[in-house]
Amino acid sequence: MENEINVMPRIGEKAPSFEAVTTQGKINFPEDFKGKWKILFSHPADFTPVCTSEFMTFGKMAQEFEQLNCQLIGLSVDGLYSHIAWLRTIKDKIDYKGMSGIEIQFPLIDDVSMKIAKQYGMIQPGESETSAVRAVFFIDPKNIIRTIMYYPLSLGRNFDEIKRVLIGLQTTDNFGVALPADWRPGDEVIVPTAGSCGVAKERVEDKSGKIHCYDWFFCTRQLSKEEVESKLGKK
Ligand code: BEZ
Repeated sequence: MENEINVMPRIGEKAPSFEAVTTQGKINFPEDFKGKWKILFSHPADFTPVCTSEFMTFGKMAQEFEQLNCQLIGLSVDGLYSHIAWLRTIKDKIDYKGMSGIEIQFPLIDDVSMKIAKQYGMIQPGESETSAVRAVFFIDPKNIIRTIMYYPLSLGRNFDEIKRVLIGLQTTDNFGVALPADWRPGDEVIVPTAGSCGVAKERVEDKSGKIHCYDWFFCTRQLSKEEVESKLGKK
């Protein structure tokens, strides 16, 4: 039991597999979604306010994630009938910050046994022994975990940041660059660390004007928003 709870999948590892019942039918994860990006995220409980605000925000943005070739999959340790009733309430009754009639069309996993939550390190007893924390796993088309976020129960996530991370991961893969603090499409990108002093020197002395070096170890180049956008959702 102790060990089960202490399992924490890590960045760079294969996403652990599981079968689950969801609001959209049975799924075999991640195999059913191979070739797509996946965001597997947990929330502490249905019929709670922070979670409701998060689901409405994700629901409103669902098409944006679809366009990025990304499948959203939610999870909590509530059962299927609770999920169905909560999502119906959200759609039929909740008008929040101009959002109303929000229909959640992505799968929401029934994990009453907590098996999947434990497998993914979502049960963090210091925060709660009986519900999942707010976890977000970014899983790439080859089913590798690429980024993990954990938030506590009382703090709603920033969905613009979740989208920015997904776009950032797709950009690093497509262009072989690294991305600086607060990067957004259209901002300069970091040219990978040089393999040799010769290359570094060349960069510092670059006359083409395409590469800008702040020092020998920190060089950037322009990457237009249009170039970034032309590749999004493609890998
Ligand atoms: C909420 O979503 O509002 C919430 C859930 C569990 C604990 C605290 C807040």
